[in-house]
Amino acid sequence: MLNAPSTDLAGKFHPHPTYFQTQARINYLISHYLSFEILHDRLQELPKQYEQPHARAWAPVNWHAIAPDQVIGVDLETFLSVVVGALDVEAPIRDYSHVSWHYLKQIHAPMARFVGGTFAEDGSIVEIGLWEREERQHTPAFIKIYHQLTGQKIATKPSIVKNYNPSIDPREDLYRHGLHRVATEYGATGLYVWLMAHSTGALQQVVAEMVQDEVNHFVKFWGWGQWAFPESALTRLVGTVKSLSHQKRAVQSAPDSLSRSPRVQANYLVLGVDLVRTFRRVMGLMDWSSWSVLSKLEMTFTFTRVLLRMLVWSRQLTPERLRGIFGEPRIQPRS
Ligand SMILES: [Fe+2]
Ligand SMILES: [Fe+2]
Repeated sequence: MLNAPSTDLAGKFHPHPTYFQTQARINYLISHYLSFEILHDRLQELPKQYEQPHARAWAPVNWHAIAPDQVIGVDLETFLSVVVGALDVEAPIRDYSHVSWHYLKQIHAPMARFVGGTFAEDGSIVEIGLWEREERQHTPAFIKIYHQLTGQKIATKPSIVKNYNPSIDPREDLYRHGLHRVATEYGATGLYVWLMAHSTGALQQVVAEMVQDEVNHFVKFWGWGQWAFPESALTRLVGTVKSLSHQKRAVQSAPDSLSRSPRVQANYLVLGVDLVRTFRRVMGLMDWSSWSVLSKLEMTFTFTRVLLRMLVWSRQLTPERLRGIFGEPRIQPRS
């Protein structure tokens, strides 16, 4: 029998929480794990991490203490479906990091090293990227969680990663790929905050380690993107959202003056379709259609709150402040 504390890492603990009590836990988690101070510090350290990569060490985890009665306020089946969705987002990390490295290496070597590491002339890896080093702990952690909660081993089926596929415009390629990376980190942050709100004890402690890693990466990619593409962050985002909403009418509805060319617009369309496809695949793995209305509301609430937090924070990221952290953008604008 679980000896329940009155508080845990998500604030007040309730063995059978109401919708609003869970919402309070989600708010507590966001205010603590995505505090403006943490967001600022994680971004501020990026230039130092370029020079001296240093992975954040996890607190010791008592894996054998993880048990099904540490899942709270949701049925075990729904909780496990999110674990399965998370496994899909996480793997295969080596393929993800290598593709990202290719897009970055030509135009921003320090970030390429941060994500994908360094390689010898013969293509063999010399040093694993910091991002990959931190991320590659997540898949085994979710496999162990699944085993502790079910007594069964889960057979993972890693996603097929899209190969490096450069166009004639490396900067545009990098922007599109970077947006995908930010969306993945956002997805992982939202899912794991929700898992923390619905867990306690050793189970919650291990998810907390992954939340910290995801927030760290989410912030770094977001802030770096805003610094690297300062002239067009908003118009590009608007262009992408327009593509998403117009995807069914494709060519006829190609938006207006925000697009620079039909080719760029087509790129946004591909990106939009790609993001929607990824989103649908994860929702399918989580068996989203079978979720209760309250669980759907909760998950939507979590993602909305995380995004709002980031949007409010990013208003502090003025060009001057970003230059104070990173210097002048080293990525040359297209002529
Ligand atoms: Fe991860
Ligand atoms: Fe991640």
